[in-house]
Amino acid sequence: MVHDAGNLVVHDITATEAKQGTNGYDMQMRFVITAVFMLLPLCAQEKQEKQDKGKRPIPNPTNLKVLKVTTGPEVTQIMRTFTSGLGVQCNFCHVQGNFASDDNPKKEVARHMIEMATEINSKFTDGKMHVTCYTCHRGEPEPKTAPEPRAAQ
Ligand code: HEC
Ligand code: HEC
Repeated sequence: MVHDAGNLVVHDITATEAKQGTNGYDMQMRFVITAVFMLLPLCAQEKQEKQDKGKRPIPNPTNLKVLKVTTGPEVTQIMRTFTSGLGVQCNFCHVQGNFASDDNPKKEVARHMIEMATEINSKFTDGKMHVTCYTCHRGEPEPKTAPEPRAAQ
């Protein structure tokens, strides 16, 4: 991300500099500015690597049946929407220590839910994702079908 942003800036600047012509001063400035912006992403990358150090890299999934993603980080991002959407921990749906296992029956329920939500979203004509786990679940494993009775006042 940071990398891309950095490269964009480099392009912008070299483009404007190019328009201004190429006398010696411009050339020198252009070199300095370009060098600075080329170094920025490197620093950012180093920082990112430091943050990731100590954590094991997220392995790519081996047992996906409905999700259409391929990398570990993509899966993790989706899984976070599940935990926050239902207000649960990972092992609500997963066998502790084995995410690929299908032994926890909630995982299969969740697969049906993913398909259901995908189908509902496909009925919206704008192609956007309007219905998420949270839309129904609101941070609870079992969605309410009716409002709570109002507390007596
Ligand atoms: C609401 C149920 C649910 C919760 C909560 C949940 N997951 Fe999942 N997870 C699934 C389902 C369903 C799949 C399989 C999706 C498929 O078949 O396409 C899956 C797949 C995965 C996979 C891929 C395993 C493989 O090798 O195929 C990983 C890794 C994973 N989950 C990690 C997590 C983590 C980490 C958390 C907690 C942050 C979490 N999950 C929370 C339902 C859940
Ligand atoms: C259209 C509403 C709706 C959406 C969207 C929805 N769910 Fe559900 N979900 C329900 C209802 C209603 C139940 C309770 C009935 C049942 O268990 O079949 C439920 C139950 C579940 C359960 C079982 C909970 C338990 O206590 O056993 C899991 C797991 C689950 N949903 C996961 C998900 C995930 C993950 C998503 C997002 C991909 C999702 N749901 C999206 C309506 C929804």
